[in-house]
Amino acid sequence: MLTGKTIILGITGGIAAYKGAALCSKLVQAGARVHVIMTDSATKFITPLTLQTLSRNPVHIDTFDERDPSVVSHIHLADHADLIVIAPATANAIAKLAGGHADDMLSTTLLAATCPVLVAPAMNVHMYEHPAVVSNLELLASRGVMFVEPGTGQLACGYVAKGRLAEPEDIVTAIDSWFSRGNKLKGKRVLVTAGGTMERLDPVRFLTNDSSGKMGFAIAEAAVLMGADVTLVAGRTTAALPAGVKVIRVESAQEMLEAVTGRYDDMDIVIKAAAVADYRAVHVSGQKLKKNGEKLTLELARTVDILETLGQRKHHQFLVGFAAETEQVEHYAMDKLRRKNCDLIVANDVSMEGAGFNGDTNIVQVFGPDGLVESMPMLTKRETANRLLELIAQRIAASGGIGE
Ligand code: CTP
Repeated sequence: MLTGKTIILGITGGIAAYKGAALCSKLVQAGARVHVIMTDSATKFITPLTLQTLSRNPVHIDTFDERDPSVVSHIHLADHADLIVIAPATANAIAKLAGGHADDMLSTTLLAATCPVLVAPAMNVHMYEHPAVVSNLELLASRGVMFVEPGTGQLACGYVAKGRLAEPEDIVTAIDSWFSRGNKLKGKRVLVTAGGTMERLDPVRFLTNDSSGKMGFAIAEAAVLMGADVTLVAGRTTAALPAGVKVIRVESAQEMLEAVTGRYDDMDIVIKAAAVADYRAVHVSGQKLKKNGEKLTLELARTVDILETLGQRKHHQFLVGFAAETEQVEHYAMDKLRRKNCDLIVANDVSMEGAGFNGDTNIVQVFGPDGLVESMPMLTKRETANRLLELIAQRIAASGGIGE
């Protein structure tokens, strides 16, 4: 699986550095070209000779130890890497990457690199849960850094808790699935809608909903990582925009309808994760509405159902809708799937803790024309997005590809 791939393995100074040797060996066995960069602290735990022998390449430690005068090592390494893996990643290494520091060979190479980065943290549980570490991890995740989460078990410091470096096999599996993921939607044009719409009442007031855009953004991001050409039509959102996608900002349901239908013919896959208003104000005041009397009645009119419109005009596209429900999830989801002519409906019971608007997790059930296809446990929105896109890719492949 990793033949032809160049991987930089960054080993930083924690007791789990010894597992870096097993990881290096497994990556080489899987066919990867591995270049190891160790921090000074890592060399206190394991010798560079071990990593040199396993990787069959010189180990880099000192930025100024330039052995080949024809190149600048950290730039050369960064330019040729398909992936950088930091395992184990200490709290300090994570902080340096988040802060953009460049004071040793690993941190300078990371700043010079444009390839994806996978981080496998390992540290004491209290360090892992420290707000500074949590916010650094969140910042890195928002920049597209991938993680292999630490496991729970006996830590070197005596605690039995979360913080143990993921097993080398699990890190290799994550690397493997990342590389294979890169081809699953190669060449496919994917349109994702995200966030809530804003229906204006006057220049300073509007009707909207709690959607953060996180689920749609996670889908757009995952689709990019699977090789797709992604267009994101985003309404009102609070989450940070994903990288590598074309973003079209809209406010109202009508603007979203126009943005989506105008691009529909060119798309292979359309995923409607947006929370679209079902009603808009009949009269939008050009001036700020003045209060007048004890009661105010707003007259609202139905918006066009974008998903239903797309379902009616569907020719080759694979169409995925969302259904936010608070009861009888399967019944309503299947009804929406049929009414809106979707290929899949992603349903969530938004009354459940850990599901729905605003949070970082979701609990979804995916329905196809024949009923339940997959019931996912509580997962991060990112992981939910990965699984959903895997499912879409499988279904498209099983049907012989788009448009056939
Ligand atoms: N949707 C849409 N246009 C609308 C309303 C909804 O495209 N005007 C889409 C949403 O993006 C979502 C799906 O329809 O993919 C289901 O949205 P949801 O709010 O759960 O359902 P509704 O169709 O509005 O049905 P109901 O109000 O009966 O639950």
